[in-house]
Amino acid sequence: MEQFNIWGGTPLKGQIRISGSKNSTLPIMAASIMSSEEVIIKNVPDLEDVRVMALALQELGAKVTKEKDVLIINSKNINSSELPEKISRKMRASNLVMGALLGRLKNAQVAYPGGCAIGSRPMDLHVKGFEKLGYVITEEYGYMKGKAQDIKGNEIMLDFPSVGATENIMMAAALTPGTTIIRNAAREPEVVDLQNFLNRMGANIKGAGLDAIRIKGVERLGRVEHTVIPDRIEAGTFMIASAITSGDVWLENVVVEHIHPVISKLSEIGVMVSVANGGLRIVGNRKRYKPSDIKTMPYPGFPTDMQPQFMSFLSTINGTSLVVETIFENRFMHVQELCRMGADIKIEGRVAIIKGSDKLEGARVEASDLRAGAALVLAGLSAIDETVVTGIEHINRGYENILEKLTTLGAKITSTQKVDG
Ligand code: UD1
Repeated sequence: MEQFNIWGGTPLKGQIRISGSKNSTLPIMAASIMSSEEVIIKNVPDLEDVRVMALALQELGAKVTKEKDVLIINSKNINSSELPEKISRKMRASNLVMGALLGRLKNAQVAYPGGCAIGSRPMDLHVKGFEKLGYVITEEYGYMKGKAQDIKGNEIMLDFPSVGATENIMMAAALTPGTTIIRNAAREPEVVDLQNFLNRMGANIKGAGLDAIRIKGVERLGRVEHTVIPDRIEAGTFMIASAITSGDVWLENVVVEHIHPVISKLSEIGVMVSVANGGLRIVGNRKRYKPSDIKTMPYPGFPTDMQPQFMSFLSTINGTSLVVETIFENRFMHVQELCRMGADIKIEGRVAIIKGSDKLEGARVEASDLRAGAALVLAGLSAIDETVVTGIEHINRGYENILEKLTTLGAKITSTQKVDG
């Protein structure tokens, strides 16, 4: 198993390019099977989750080829509507093929997904949405099965603006006759990217990014070439890497509007963030930092996917900070590990109370999920002595070349493979 050895204390300096968004790429890949013509997706990050989604599409009969950051998917001969457990268990986002399959084949069987251990993550909102469109959904032997009965567009009010449910329903509705309106829809930039992709294939969707999305079903979708948006969570993570090490880092390939909540929190804390030449410069100076409170919210609120990384940062700032996690009930798995590095954090339900101090100390810690892993790497970059982070396979699911990018910025970090047992 891979582990990172990090010697903290070096201010990061230099420039890196942010990769394409993981959370845009995955639904867009799923949506590609809705067309029987060639789909070309550019700016695709080289990640384990992308490889798992490619396997899922191949299992359904699609041809998937990748050259550098370009994916070519041909689903002309799609011959199965079943995604088996061996694939769906590897990644929660594999559930996104359900909406795509219902749209294209009017029939789908998807084993219940696995993924990051950050809460129960049910699929009731997805199911209610499909049912409203006239698909009959049954659950048998760990599979969610769907079949078209009397399908037509409808009004769907989501109880919560779930990203996955919005995307899944949007895909099914794009090839379901009549008009569908999704209300209280997720407004994340990745939902907008999916809308743009589907529209380029010939769909008729308006309103993504607002809280009501209107989808007029069309009969078929065609060829498309699309470039995925930059990864706002990767950008946010490197912004903290600069801040936590009192560094001076430039990020290329960012959409500033997508990271406003992170920029405004960092500015409030005392980090200098400026926009120049289409990029972002983040200059840290720990003498200026003040504690701060964070509450995770659906977009455009503060992203839950940045909460663990901010927790690491706040642990290194003198004074008391609060973090309230409202999206996932079990997203404090990194706290125990940060405490092993000397952090003083107490959890009361969904609230974490952080008594920050100047420095964390290196320790052996384990990444339990993707963003928790990123948080531990950040903590290691600022800690005294050596930090060993295990469970790197979680980090590799969502950060392209993280080791190379950190090394480019001057971080003292190496990777070693340990044989199990
Ligand atoms: C997506 C992101 C993930 C991010 C999350 C929230 C992808 C591939 N993943 O995950 O990185 O952390 O959005 O921004 O894009 N819920 C229900 N019932 C449902 C669906 C969701 O109760 O049917 C709940 C979940 O348990 C969770 C909350 O809604 O508490 C948010 O989940 P959701 O927005 O659906 O997240 P994902 O799409 O799984």
